[in-house]
Amino acid sequence: MPHDSKRGIDVLRDPGLNKSTAFTEAEKQAMGLVGLVPDVTESEDLQLQRVVLQLAQKNTDLERYIYLVNLLDHNQTLFYRTVMSDPARFLPIVYDPTIGEACLKFGHIYRQPRGMYLSMARRGKVKEILKNWPQEDVRFICVTDGGRILGLGDLGANGAGIPIGKLELYTACAGVPPQYLLPMYLDAGTNNEQYLHDPLYLGMRKRRPSAGELYPFVDEFVEAVQEVFPKCCIHFEDWTGSDAVHLLQRYRDKYCVYNDDIQGTAGIVLAGMVNAAKLKGTKLTDEKYLFLGAGSAAIGLADLIGSAMQRDGMTLQDAQSRIYMFDIHGLLDDSRKDLLDFQKPYAHRHAPTRDFVAAIESIKPTTIVGVSTVGGLFNQKVVESMSRINDRPVILALSNPTDHAECTPQQAYTWSKGKAIYAAGVQFPPVHFEGRTFLPGQANNFYIFPAIGMAVFATQATRVTDEMFIEAAHAVADQVPSDLLKQGLLFPLQSNVLEAEIQTAARVAKLVFDSGLARVPEPKDMVGFIRQHVYKPEYPIETGPSRVAA
Ligand code: NAI
Repeated sequence: MPHDSKRGIDVLRDPGLNKSTAFTEAEKQAMGLVGLVPDVTESEDLQLQRVVLQLAQKNTDLERYIYLVNLLDHNQTLFYRTVMSDPARFLPIVYDPTIGEACLKFGHIYRQPRGMYLSMARRGKVKEILKNWPQEDVRFICVTDGGRILGLGDLGANGAGIPIGKLELYTACAGVPPQYLLPMYLDAGTNNEQYLHDPLYLGMRKRRPSAGELYPFVDEFVEAVQEVFPKCCIHFEDWTGSDAVHLLQRYRDKYCVYNDDIQGTAGIVLAGMVNAAKLKGTKLTDEKYLFLGAGSAAIGLADLIGSAMQRDGMTLQDAQSRIYMFDIHGLLDDSRKDLLDFQKPYAHRHAPTRDFVAAIESIKPTTIVGVSTVGGLFNQKVVESMSRINDRPVILALSNPTDHAECTPQQAYTWSKGKAIYAAGVQFPPVHFEGRTFLPGQANNFYIFPAIGMAVFATQATRVTDEMFIEAAHAVADQVPSDLLKQGLLFPLQSNVLEAEIQTAARVAKLVFDSGLARVPEPKDMVGFIRQHVYKPEYPIETGPSRVAA
């Protein structure tokens, strides 16, 4: 029996064991539960019906989020059964966009601990602290320092909600079993004045340290993970832009780590670009990109597009020469003195300009990518200019939340007279324009990072490489049916996310084996191999006699 020692109320208090109203008579007898639960044996589906009923009585998504987190605290199987029963409906509640509001209020809505909290005050003790975690075999730690939470800035300890939500998506979207996942908040203080003065704030009341102080602590954490959880992959999430880039550079060739804001975002946007090229009948290497915004999302994406173009036969230099960037100070040109090291490959010889439309007219991009954090910057002039230059202008307005999108799909389709190929960072409803229905897709990382996670989990990969994200991007792109692609949908349907991720994970896993990065023998049937690892939100059948015998 897997759960030998627990009985009675301890079973009900363990969210991994609790079946609530679904224990069989034999289980109740064997585990000392008679009288501790209602005298019924309900199916998972009946329990799900009750959850859906109770959710419908809540007035806001934040209340639904609190309810679902509470459910996860009590009954893990029922939580995942709920979320996986209708991902398109429940993912926006357990993750983006509701998670943003949940983080803003994290210290206020806090009910009970989840994951680990590691503060810099514990320097020198990280290994001992990691050993306090009850599971020995941890495969993924999602870690944030709360430095740049979504588009909301420095939320310090309130950012702890992000790794919790992100790891739920590993399970809900790709079936990674939840017992292997550890959300982690690494507390390096905050510069958020409001939280520093909020009595209910749950982090250190200190300002953030310099990178010179922070990075050695992150080193201690990363090295301790190697010793305590040797099969673990570390997923960095929502650090400030420069920390995100620098920490990824620091560890990527030495340990199994990745950064979803950089690589996952790049992967899903690349999937959209692959499909946009398919719609136009071109190749990635034919395209020319102009980014609005040159922060971590832009750099991660540009670097991955560069690698993808290299994979398609171009030199890195030629690939980079097709990628331009424009930030708050104007076009990145080679005379700019304020650029960071990782922006320089995209600063080309060009006259300085602070006029985005002028930059479009001169550079003649096929695609513009909005990662500026500022809503409305793709105005009518921008879209009309793109439409003059291109038969099918590709317009990716990725900033979120919704009011930060550089333009709405309605605007893109209207101003381009139906020519635009459009995707956003948030979900917009279908658009009807001149008798046609367009399906604006959402470049949501959740098509990519859970599938990468499943591939790493199943193969026990020792590294996460850019090639794995490129492969994932192509796999995701290939799963959009051609009729939906023709309506402008660049990404698979959310309702089918688990199956899409299984197929994606299988392709990434194949690459892991081919690259010699796997720690398990290569199977013949890769999709079947991934399916074997997929968590199912079903209660284990416990039988009375063996429990009694235990
Ligand atoms: P960041 O803060 O690192 O970079 C923002 C960039 O925009 C900077 O280069 C800044 O100079 C530029 N910028 C700001 N105001 C501007 C203006 N008025 N005109 C021109 N440029 C301006 O932010 P990060 O992390 O790169 O994220 C950018 C946006 O991308 C965010 O809104 C985020 O929500 C979105 N994003 C979308 C994702 C998706 O769709 N899957 C994933 C990750 C990020």
